[in-house]
Amino acid sequence: MTTPQFIQLHQHDAAAVAQELLQGLSAPQAYTSPKYLYDALGSRLFEAITELPEYDLTRTEAQLMCLHSADMAQHLPKGACWVDLGAGNCEKAGRLLGPMQAARYVAVDISVDFVRQALGHLQHQHPGLPMVGLGTDFSGGLDLPEALALDPAQPRVLFYPGSSIGNFTPVQALGFLQSLHRACGRAMGSGLLIGVDLLKDPVELAAAYDDALGVTAAFDLNLLLHINRLVGSDFAVRDWRHLSRFNAAQSRVEMHLQARHVVTVRWPGGLRQFAADETIHTENACKWTVPDFAALLHATGFAKTHAWTDPAQRFAVFWAQS
Ligand code: AVI
Repeated sequence: MTTPQFIQLHQHDAAAVAQELLQGLSAPQAYTSPKYLYDALGSRLFEAITELPEYDLTRTEAQLMCLHSADMAQHLPKGACWVDLGAGNCEKAGRLLGPMQAARYVAVDISVDFVRQALGHLQHQHPGLPMVGLGTDFSGGLDLPEALALDPAQPRVLFYPGSSIGNFTPVQALGFLQSLHRACGRAMGSGLLIGVDLLKDPVELAAAYDDALGVTAAFDLNLLLHINRLVGSDFAVRDWRHLSRFNAAQSRVEMHLQARHVVTVRWPGGLRQFAADETIHTENACKWTVPDFAALLHATGFAKTHAWTDPAQRFAVFWAQS
């Protein structure tokens, strides 16, 4: 049995993180990057969100992948190197590696510690499959390092499930997808397998991001505790409420944290006063139509696209060949 190899590139830079966060918190419309929603507790809360009756995105995607796996195998290259972006527990890719006859698996996450255990388990299921855990921050674009020693002649399948692409604005998504197109390399048959949540009834979308149990509210509010640890601020969770709103003009659900009353937040060397009802914009979840997302893929260099959708057109899995 081969054993997984691990490469950690990303190093936490506390000063840069604090600077980025404080710049956003000091902007006229305060904002934070959605990546700060995911500390250890935030990641667990997100897993709980995927089990909520109001949030069917993850379940619908899994059903699509399962239902259409034979057809997917016709479109995707065999013997490919699978690059799993935001791999986490490696579960989604783990189900596809066998049926798609993958020849190598690269699990990418911000820290190899997030994939270490999962890769160990997966290696037992696929003893002969070479596996790598790569720790890198790809939120600003993917750059596959030389250290991976990728074979230029081997096709690559970049795998980006879960509609995380929706957390980018369309302009950011364009730049990000361009970087994925470059990372596909030149081998024939390479491409991107990506999950995209589709535009649907705004009432349903609002419920998906503001569930009755309050799990999404906890997920959003937990960001304040994470920021306190990162910048030494004194946010008090009880001063804030979670808000989700559908922005029809931008085709996106927005999450905000709204001040319940006048709030002064202090951090080493600074402060900000928030008026009552003023918000911090914490996340965008853009919702695409199939033609609009296909057009985006083409605009970023992908030559051919194919989409699998459920009968109610709630979610799409795209195969975009480079
Ligand atoms: C990770 N991402 C695709 C989720 C989404 O639906 O935008 C994050 C999330 N935010 C609130 N609920 C789930």
